[in-house]
Amino acid sequence: MQQIQVNDCEIAYQTRGHGAPLLLVHGFPLDHSMWRFQFETLATQYHVIAPDLRGFGKSSRGTAPISMSQFAVDLNELLDAIDIQAPITFCGLSMGGYIGWEFWRQFPQRLARLIQCDTRSIGDTEVIARGRRQMAARIAEQGSRGSTLAADGMIPKLFSKSSMQAIPERVQQLRQVIASSDPAIIAETQLALANRQDATNWLADINVPTLLLCGEHDGISPSDEMRAIADALPQAQFEVIKDVGHMAPLENPQAVNQIIRRFLAN
Ligand code: MLT
Repeated sequence: MQQIQVNDCEIAYQTRGHGAPLLLVHGFPLDHSMWRFQFETLATQYHVIAPDLRGFGKSSRGTAPISMSQFAVDLNELLDAIDIQAPITFCGLSMGGYIGWEFWRQFPQRLARLIQCDTRSIGDTEVIARGRRQMAARIAEQGSRGSTLAADGMIPKLFSKSSMQAIPERVQQLRQVIASSDPAIIAETQLALANRQDATNWLADINVPTLLLCGEHDGISPSDEMRAIADALPQAQFEVIKDVGHMAPLENPQAVNQIIRRFLAN
């Protein structure tokens, strides 16, 4: 992994390959390693960049308040810092997708295509926002055990039941990523997620080819909701990945990579 100064923090990132730039943006509260089955494979054709967002993985926290908007600003600065000039394909999962809408809003000239995996456009309902605030408070109370608490709460929501049985080592690895992240960052990002903007009214203006990918059993970003996002976008392709949950790229990388390759080839 490499590190580079971006705004007020050090961003860690992996990069490989040549060709059109493809930025892989992880979900919450994860790191770049969730893309490991996409990274190698897609780097045979594309210039793939997989960062850790500020405060996550090996990236430092900096001092700016965490928000979807700040993450988008950081990614734009990262692209400048590593001299990516061509318009990019932005590929985000879940929170990475929320950041994708923000990235389009702030830096539309930088975007050639969007790949939105297991994500939503609407903001949080009051019930979901309240749940996040409660979780943030519980994590803060637990101190260093807070991340384990977050991992225990989240893992069953991230994978389908069949993936939990079929790929236990990937489930375990993701649990480890969550359990080893900074509880203060998890808590702060929960609050930032609760405060994120509703992007639904932006969709009709997002006039770049967009691939929407959703796990059939995703309980966080339900497929019906993602189909509605596709209907609202001017240039969208919508695909459901069978038998998987919220972590489709990790649960069935073969299917996801094939769809991404086909989308990028057109
Ligand atoms: C994620 O996977 O990034 C989170 O589940 C997003 C969320 O909590 O809304």
